[in-house]
Amino acid sequence: MAKFRKIGILTSGGDAPGMNAAVRAVAREAMHEGVQVVGIREGYQGLIEGNVFDMTTHDVSGIITHGGTVLYSSRSPMFMTDEGMKMALKTCEEHDIDAIVALGGDGTFRGATKLTHNGIPSIGIPCTIDNDITATEHTIGFDTAMNTVLSMVDALRETCESHKRCNVIEVMGRDCGLIALHTGLTTGALAIAIPEMPFDEDFAIGKLASARAQGKRGLIALASEGMKPVGDHKYSEYFAEQIEKRTGIETKFARCGHIIRGGAPTLRDRLIATAMGYAAVQELLAGKSNEVMCIIDGKIAPVEINYALILDRMYKGRLEDGDLDQFTQEQLASMKETCRIRRREIEYLYQMANSISF
Ligand code: F6P
Repeated sequence: MAKFRKIGILTSGGDAPGMNAAVRAVAREAMHEGVQVVGIREGYQGLIEGNVFDMTTHDVSGIITHGGTVLYSSRSPMFMTDEGMKMALKTCEEHDIDAIVALGGDGTFRGATKLTHNGIPSIGIPCTIDNDITATEHTIGFDTAMNTVLSMVDALRETCESHKRCNVIEVMGRDCGLIALHTGLTTGALAIAIPEMPFDEDFAIGKLASARAQGKRGLIALASEGMKPVGDHKYSEYFAEQIEKRTGIETKFARCGHIIRGGAPTLRDRLIATAMGYAAVQELLAGKSNEVMCIIDGKIAPVEINYALILDRMYKGRLEDGDLDQFTQEQLASMKETCRIRRREIEYLYQMANSISF
């Protein structure tokens, strides 16, 4: 078992509900194993600036129920510079930090890899409401964000029903439509627009018009923020205008925005966060590093960070020259299979949504 004096924890990039549950699990498990814990505030920027404090079990008491991150977050371009890394390593030296658990998305994992290569073994935990980290089936925050969307859309449906209106609701997700797809399906939306699938606007508008013709009063459409804009209009706003213009149905537009990034994490997010935090410390103590904790086939599975990052680029069609050179044929086959599974899941759900919404 690797001997560590102190493990540092940081949260970086966009926050996600459940981050606190993961911070708590990392801290508690490290303390349980007799390792001291250092909280690093405001992500990698805090590591550069020495914004750190020794954590006690009391510091993580009661935080499992809260959204946001008690360690605060930031995006730190400086961390990727040589100067930034030098200052971060100095902080580690001054505070006896031997290893780091970094919570966040792909930028956070790149930082963890850099730290590992500079002698500070690091492990990543995937936190983002977008669920767009291809290596894992679930990221921390996805479930809570979707449940928040669910309550908002359910509420909007009630007022749409009263006033015989349509509402187009835009949800976050960056370039990924998974939040829109899952919440569209589970709120009974008549139309779902996501960047992963071709969106047949005429068909969707026709469906809304025909539902109205059959007497349906409240009409709901979900659109992902990742849809390509039309001129200088966000797609969701444009779509709402088109519905009203072409059908005469009074149509409102709502953007859920950052509200879905906050709030008390759901049971699922707390559980995933707890399991990943616990496993991250176990991995470090077993001498492992440069991994991201993933969920594969419903179980916690560590994946090498570089593999996870390149798999992500493969899935998103952003591979660069030489990206695949370092992998074996077996690894490449496994990456392709994961991409196929992810795409197939989306196609299946999308098709299901179209089949049963009329
Ligand atoms: O990645 C999480 C996310 O909330 C995305 O869904 C969204 O596109 C982006 O972050 C918003 O970023 P910011 O908090 O910088 O506005």
